[in-house]
Amino acid sequence: MLFPTSLSQWTSPPLRWAALAAIASLVLITTLLWQWPRDDHNTYGFAGVSKASGASQAPLYSADVYNTTLGFEKVFAIGLPSRTDKHDAAALGASMIELDLNWIDGVKSSDLTPQAFPIGWNKDPNAHQPGMVGSWRAHMNALQTVVSLRLSTALIIEDDADYDVSLKVQLDQFSHGARAIQHQESTTPHSPYGDHWDLLWLGHHGAIPRENETNIYIIPEDITAVPVRHNKPWHVPAEKFFQTETSRLVFPQVRGVATYAYGVTLAGAQRILARQSMEHMDQNFDEKLGRMCDPEEETMVLRCIAPFPTIIGAFKRQGPKSWTSDNWFDSKAQGKNDQEWEPARSVGVMYSVMLNMKRLLLGEKAKAQFDDWPVQESDMNAVRALHGHLMDESELKHT
Ligand SMILES: *[C@@H]1O[C@H](CO)[C@@H](O)[C@H](O)[C@H]1NC(C)=O
Ligand SMILES: *[C@@H]1O[C@H](CO)[C@@H](O)[C@H](O)[C@H]1NC(C)=O
Repeated sequence: MLFPTSLSQWTSPPLRWAALAAIASLVLITTLLWQWPRDDHNTYGFAGVSKASGASQAPLYSADVYNTTLGFEKVFAIGLPSRTDKHDAAALGASMIELDLNWIDGVKSSDLTPQAFPIGWNKDPNAHQPGMVGSWRAHMNALQTVVSLRLSTALIIEDDADYDVSLKVQLDQFSHGARAIQHQESTTPHSPYGDHWDLLWLGHHGAIPRENETNIYIIPEDITAVPVRHNKPWHVPAEKFFQTETSRLVFPQVRGVATYAYGVTLAGAQRILARQSMEHMDQNFDEKLGRMCDPEEETMVLRCIAPFPTIIGAFKRQGPKSWTSDNWFDSKAQGKNDQEWEPARSVGVMYSVMLNMKRLLLGEKAKAQFDDWPVQESDMNAVRALHGHLMDESELKHT
């Protein structure tokens, strides 16, 4: 009989006991397997640690910045499909901080037909870093998606983005700062970051306010703030704004460079797409984006808000120098520096998820990137007591 309806039809008595025993052990094993990953998750899994602390922490304004899209409607990650190594790392990193990524395919400059180049783009390879037009196009594709789906807000990240283990607490603080400088502390805006912005430049290699800016939010003691001496960004706010080496500022921004990550609204995405795809465009994507933050430079203006130092950084895995950036890989520079092997490194984050991947998966705390840092180990709980405020007149005068 192929399909027995009961054990007695199927077997003789001794075999029946054996079958019952087999079923019993199957049930036992299934029960154990069902419980085992959950126990392991709670005891050792970093994801469990992150969830527990995130949930028990009273958010400053909105619990949404702790959700799997960080308080934005969607998160897009830009990456070349051929760089499977970066996809692996990005997926792992996102899983550690519980982030839902939607992939947007990166674009190689060589895949772009000449008619699709920006109007006014200097095709002389010496005029732009090789590969920059591909990078520009990938960002246009991401923005085009935001516009097509009419998303009210989105976060766009590059595939080598790196995060501090306390990213969600940092964003909670940042949302506090962003809303303070938009004067939206006591309202209930649609976005947890406030409603009077077009661009939140969360991952950069330099961003500045105007030198005479008076609307500045400061977190004076932020142990996750990478000091300038360890990062060397291209743009650094005037020294007078910093009260301590660990100050993190949030301000209306007028310049920025490098787009590891940025939040954008629908109106912001429309403006960037219009300015950078339909009009004369002879600068790299990030450089033009920075100028769009400044009404003295551009008429198609964005209301930009940035933290300084950056919150989201960039990870470079170990390997020959030419492998790290696709802007360079996709170019004549390819293969030139292959003798030079570089260790894994991270730019812009103190307690890097990427550099600490193994430690975190083994249930250990994240280590600071720099040996001279006073707090060598951290998890989300270590930064729970950060406090920030709008700088008042006396603070600004004194500085
Ligand atoms: C996270 O919060 C934002 C802002 O409220 C919301 O638009 C988004 O849908 C939320 N994400 C998830 C996965 O619930
Ligand atoms: C700051 O300087 C700019 C010119 O760079 C000027 O337009 C603006 O009014 C000044 N703001 C304040 C508050 O003085």
